[in-house]
Amino acid sequence: MNALHRDLETLILETEAKYEENNYQESKYRLKFHLMPKVGWLNDPNGLCQYQGIYHVFFQYSPFNVKGGVKTWGHYTSKDLLSWDYKGVSLLPDQPFDCHGVYSGSALIDHGNMELFYTGNVKYDGDFDYILEGRASNTIRIVSKDGKHFERKQLLLKNSDYPKDYTCNIRDPKVWKDGENYWMVLGARKKEEKGAVILYQSEDKLHWEFKKEISTKKPFGYMWECPDVFELDNTAILSISPQGLSSKEFCFQNLYQSGYFVIQEGTSVSEFCNNITITSMQEEDFYEWDMGFDFYAPQTFEDEKGRRILIGWAGMPDVEDYDNQPTIEENWQHALTVPRQLKRKGTKILQYPVKELLALRREQKELLEDQSYCIENGCFDLEVENPEGNDISIQLDEDFCFQYDTKENGQIASISFEGEMGRGRKIRQAKIEKVTHVRILADTSLLEIYLNYGETVFTTRYYPQGEKVILKIKKGGKKNNIWTIKNKKKG
Ligand code: FRU
Repeated sequence: MNALHRDLETLILETEAKYEENNYQESKYRLKFHLMPKVGWLNDPNGLCQYQGIYHVFFQYSPFNVKGGVKTWGHYTSKDLLSWDYKGVSLLPDQPFDCHGVYSGSALIDHGNMELFYTGNVKYDGDFDYILEGRASNTIRIVSKDGKHFERKQLLLKNSDYPKDYTCNIRDPKVWKDGENYWMVLGARKKEEKGAVILYQSEDKLHWEFKKEISTKKPFGYMWECPDVFELDNTAILSISPQGLSSKEFCFQNLYQSGYFVIQEGTSVSEFCNNITITSMQEEDFYEWDMGFDFYAPQTFEDEKGRRILIGWAGMPDVEDYDNQPTIEENWQHALTVPRQLKRKGTKILQYPVKELLALRREQKELLEDQSYCIENGCFDLEVENPEGNDISIQLDEDFCFQYDTKENGQIASISFEGEMGRGRKIRQAKIEKVTHVRILADTSLLEIYLNYGETVFTTRYYPQGEKVILKIKKGGKKNNIWTIKNKKKG
């Protein structure tokens, strides 16, 4: 650890302590069970893993600036995916090769060590566009023998090592082991304005050999961020966060997207990587992870029980028509989604909150149609059973509506806002044949809505104006159950 690291860490600790002392009590919108920054800005989940029984979630963290800025890695740990301990900042920009940000990356558990791989961002002073020139994207490895203390940072790849037809925007290494081999994918922007993933292989985690480029035939966005490759039910999946897709009525409604391709049924990750002819994805096979306003840059990991778990950033960068002003005023912004277990269903993937979260539930009540229910802390867990696939309409304070409509507009599920509650968010909709089950996990200022056990998901921020929220099921299912949620102390 060098002097710069020590000084930065001290400054961050002081900033967090001061903020906690002065602001937590008055903060109305801080979350009860979602991971959020202590102070300032959070974006992508990073380095997700379970190491020696403990779950680790790192995240992109800018404690000094609520609207972003130089990135560090903040760190949470948990024994049960339910209660989390904040461990402070672990990776800081303290080297010439990562001086303008410790960007996103992943964790590899190998030979009893926790190894982190990330992008060191460097922006040179000058009149540059920072796409074709002016930026260094360094791939870096750092090893820990206990998950707390880290050894020296090792620079693995720099811009001159990447293929020549790429811009300087190459980042977000996801690394995994397959037999005796190590593999890495990086997200990239090609000079021809085309997003792609580049695949590398290594035998010693220090020397990396370029294997192939993976993309679509026609450009599918200009940049692919945060790639992830994993296997679900014997089939390889490629997850990406593409930028530059044109919006359509029922898809790509956000500024940036994130979604996945299921590589041909029965093709393992090993076959996918080794087969030099599988380089092209079909655009039509891309499914979005989440249809809400606030979801981007997810990452997955396999836990010690063998579950594939996804955590996303419940946020969206660079948007102009909606915002999070209420939390910006509290000097924090953004959160991570709850951990979602993934299961494959044909060419689609279901995502559902890990079962550990059921332990958050307290009092249960059955809700009848048109009955109002007063929610004290903005938190609840609601399940609507709708076996016949009838219309559904659920309101919060008359300013937010989840609707499933089979008659008027064809089978459409939507979330829509009016007034201040959405801070500019209007409507997001998805075509869905039959909605038989709805679960809404609400946490103070964040909603996660799961249809048909995670076939379609909407994640969105919401900002109730009063101290209480009124929930009303205008059209409900056969059975509507609501649970209050354990009211943890603010913090
Ligand atoms: C995605 C992203 C990554 C990058 C990080 C920087 O949100 O742009 O590509 O590594 O955020 O914070």
